[in-house]
Amino acid sequence: MCGIVGCLGFKNPREYVLNGLKTLDYRGYDSAGVAYYNDGIRIYKDVGAVEHLMEIVPQDIKTEIMIGHTRWATHGVPNVANTHPHISKHKKICLVHNGVIENYEDVKKFLISKHYDFYGDTDSEIVANLIEHYYLSENDILDSLKKCMFVLKGSYALAIICSDYPDEMFIMKNGSPLVIGKGDGFNFVASDASPMIKYTDAFIELNDQEYGRITKNSVEVFDANGVKVTKKLIKKDIESISHDLKGYPHYMLKEIEEIPQTIKRLLETYVKDGKYTFDKTLLNKLKESDHIMFIACGTSYHSSLVGGRYFEHYGKSTSKYIASEWAFDPVFPGNKPFIILISQSGETADLIHCLKIIKENNYESLILTNTGGSTLDRNCTYSLLLHAGIEVSVASTKAYVAQVTLLALLADAVADNPKVIEDLNSVLPLIDEIQTSYKPKIMEIANAIKKKEHLFYLGRSYDYFLSMEASLKLKEVSYIHSEAIPGGELKHGPIALIEQDTPVIVFITDHHTALPMRGNIREVQARGAKVYVIATERVATETDNIVVKNYPYYLSSVVVSSIAFYLAYYVTIEKGYNVDKPRNLAKSVTVE
Ligand code: F6R
Repeated sequence: MCGIVGCLGFKNPREYVLNGLKTLDYRGYDSAGVAYYNDGIRIYKDVGAVEHLMEIVPQDIKTEIMIGHTRWATHGVPNVANTHPHISKHKKICLVHNGVIENYEDVKKFLISKHYDFYGDTDSEIVANLIEHYYLSENDILDSLKKCMFVLKGSYALAIICSDYPDEMFIMKNGSPLVIGKGDGFNFVASDASPMIKYTDAFIELNDQEYGRITKNSVEVFDANGVKVTKKLIKKDIESISHDLKGYPHYMLKEIEEIPQTIKRLLETYVKDGKYTFDKTLLNKLKESDHIMFIACGTSYHSSLVGGRYFEHYGKSTSKYIASEWAFDPVFPGNKPFIILISQSGETADLIHCLKIIKENNYESLILTNTGGSTLDRNCTYSLLLHAGIEVSVASTKAYVAQVTLLALLADAVADNPKVIEDLNSVLPLIDEIQTSYKPKIMEIANAIKKKEHLFYLGRSYDYFLSMEASLKLKEVSYIHSEAIPGGELKHGPIALIEQDTPVIVFITDHHTALPMRGNIREVQARGAKVYVIATERVATETDNIVVKNYPYYLSSVVVSSIAFYLAYYVTIEKGYNVDKPRNLAKSVTVE
């Protein structure tokens, strides 16, 4: 994962680089560092978050060029030696790296044979030395980068400074994101546009296998053959990528409360005068296909389970795959499959791997993503944006609801049956009501479960898909181990884990499944479980903990997910953990 930033010619490089790293720390926060040129390359780095780095970097830095990095460890533990920036043996090359070099061991052996040695365990230090090795033998820095691109296997976004060129920054990209921000008399680089948007609205997005040279007034980009590439300037507006908390204490809370406006924005974007505005060719491709495959990870995979069911109800056969599973045993069921990828970030390495396989097999693909300009947005055949606005909290909330909502609209458009539009409009006041009036009840459950080590979520059909997402959300932010179980599967094994006072949270929002779910509740209660029920009015009983007004049952992931998200949020806040940055995780999973 990791976040990188860099600037040239900017009047306050310390401010840009450190604030930029703070903005990017959703990508990793094990350790952080900066490097700049002032009569030689100077480096400040340490284990810990960017806030700590801010304390150790001098206030009065004088430089024209600076790079910075916030790390999510892949090679080597988080310690000072492994923290970026990394400098080469002869101190010529200093760089920050996001990505994973797959053949770093071979490259390391090669460099050892050339009398290089290493102070840490990272693949990134090896890249710095490889560039230096070529540079010292040929004295041409751009040519050294081109040679490295041929040798290195894996993913990298690199911002590089060379002690012989104090006014120039060098960049290289493959598989990991890198964006250039163009200013007037200054230029920036970063992993995404968010650190730069305060200072410029003009960006250049690099493609894979591109490298280049940046000065404060110019940007040159080359392809892998060394041919200069003409890049177009992309404009982005501040609203779409602003990290402003807007008065909320945490991003997770802010983002949960943006769910209603996210649904409205999707309706405004994909529906005009009661009719769908989806691209006709895309709809035809979906209609003509005899099988729809979904590929995604984590929360996005959970939304594919719901979306797949929508298409199945319209008579389409579907399959849903976890990207990291499918990539190692790819199958293309049906005679004419159509492939839908889902990714909030649009940068998930497991999914990019799948896309490569899809392309090698000459299939088209559609990406549903929240990030216009991301790798998957640019490289899939079709793209539909989620329009959820930037999601900063590591735990995905509004993007999940946006994915499910968009899949409901798309399935409906393919079936030529615009019923979902009315249903979605009808649930908006209900979500508002949950968000304004249900918090005390949710907090009661949060207080009751916060000290538990294990718990279970139960549901059937759409409520089971919702349980899976509720369970993932709770475990990733509150560190309570939780598992989602389809009600009917209980007695096939998991019920063995139910003991006196084991918490079991049950969703019953679907009248088709209410009866067997009540049976499941009796089964776990008979073994001592402490049950918390979230039900709709139609199927509720007096003892249920939270009762929600009735709504079209297939929208439980759109409506009741707010309750599940608040629950995860409040438990975590009660436990005093960092809800926006849970341990060991990062927002954009750019390593496999
Ligand atoms: C959980 C969460 C992750 C992501 C997963 C895929 O809250 O956010 O499970 O859903 O890492 O990420 P994207 O959707 O960016 O491909």
